[in-house]
Amino acid sequence: MEAIVAVDRNHAIGSGGGMLFHLPGDLKYFAAMTKGKILVMGRSTLLSLPGGKPLKDRLNIILSREIGYHVPQALVVNSLTELAAALAPYAPDKVMLIGGQQIYHLLIDSCSKAYVTKIDAAAPADCYFPNLDSRPHWQLQQQSEVYHDNGLNYRHCTYINHRVLPIS
Ligand SMILES: NC(=O)c1ccc[n+]([C@@H]2O[C@H](COP(=O)([O-])OP(=O)(O)OC[C@H]3O[C@@H](n4cnc5c(N)ncnc54)[C@H](OP(=O)(O)O)[C@@H]3O)[C@@H](O)[C@H]2O)c1
Repeated sequence: MEAIVAVDRNHAIGSGGGMLFHLPGDLKYFAAMTKGKILVMGRSTLLSLPGGKPLKDRLNIILSREIGYHVPQALVVNSLTELAAALAPYAPDKVMLIGGQQIYHLLIDSCSKAYVTKIDAAAPADCYFPNLDSRPHWQLQQQSEVYHDNGLNYRHCTYINHRVLPIS
């Protein structure tokens, strides 16, 4: 599994159930990076998507503890054990973790790579991504040039995980 996220200078990712910034260029990057992938997300992130609906043309797997919770055009799993079973048929690099805070914190160390868009801004927030620079087994592998969008500067960074843990 790999992860994708957009963070600000303080590793913030969201506020009030929504994203912090609107960066059309980064949305295109997200679309390209998740194309043809299996997406894994928490229920709150699903609800933050347009119309609260799964993303099209990709298998969306939603984590929720609510037994019987049903999402049209998506697979709901109620635990990490169920998630591991659902992902078993797929090559790990075909699976993308897309958030949010709770799910990143549970599963980031089960990811082999993280695609982190670093936005050079600081916004009021209530959701955060782990600081990979403070985790010894995570290493910054590459970073892009600086892009500009909506008056903001950002880079696409890739981290690799040298100690991938099983989902548990
Ligand atoms: N900047 C970014 O790249 C980015 C990306 C994604 C999301 N976000 C932001 O992140 C925020 C949402 O994050 P969040 O932490 O509030 O929610 P979340 O991680 O998307 O979803 C949390 C939900 O996942 C379910 N869950 C959690 N642990 C589980 C487990 N062990 N087993 C089964 N289900 C489990 C629970 O659903 P139930 O309550 O149904 O049990 C829980 O309420 C939003 O502001 C969103 O915009 C930002």
